[in-house]
Amino acid sequence: MQRTLSIIKPDAVANNHIGDVIKRFESNGLKIVGMKMIRMTKKEARGFYAVHKDRLFFDSLTDFMSSGPAIAMILQGENAIVKNRELMGATDPKEAAGGSIRRDFAVDKEKNAVHGSDSPESAAFEIGYFFNSLEIVE
Ligand code: CMP
Repeated sequence: MQRTLSIIKPDAVANNHIGDVIKRFESNGLKIVGMKMIRMTKKEARGFYAVHKDRLFFDSLTDFMSSGPAIAMILQGENAIVKNRELMGATDPKEAAGGSIRRDFAVDKEKNAVHGSDSPESAAFEIGYFFNSLEIVE
């Protein structure tokens, strides 16, 4: 069993896709063991995406991620990190596989509907960024 952090980003929340995204996870063997609605400050978004701080898109990305409500979730299941990334599809919805979350619900490469941890190390950091142990429920 593995855990990963998922965020339904402000674009997908604004476009009423919360239920659509959760359905994909629940239909594909991923269990939600933590969930909350968040509105990140710019500072919190900068801290969350600190690994991208030198990228050209960092300022725009952190503006977007702090622009409205989002849903943070902990997904649990076998190979949860890879499974979640497969369900999400490629970063750019134009390149994402048919039937993937980003292909079906994302706006563009930045406003791409969902975030998912990319490694066990980032999952540990990202889960701890939003959840304490009392907020993880099995
Ligand atoms: P995410 O999986 O949350 O990880 C980093 C985010 O940066 C990514 O999804 C996109 O939202 C954003 N991103 C990555 N590449 C670009 C890009 N070239 N232009 C704008 N945003 C990007």
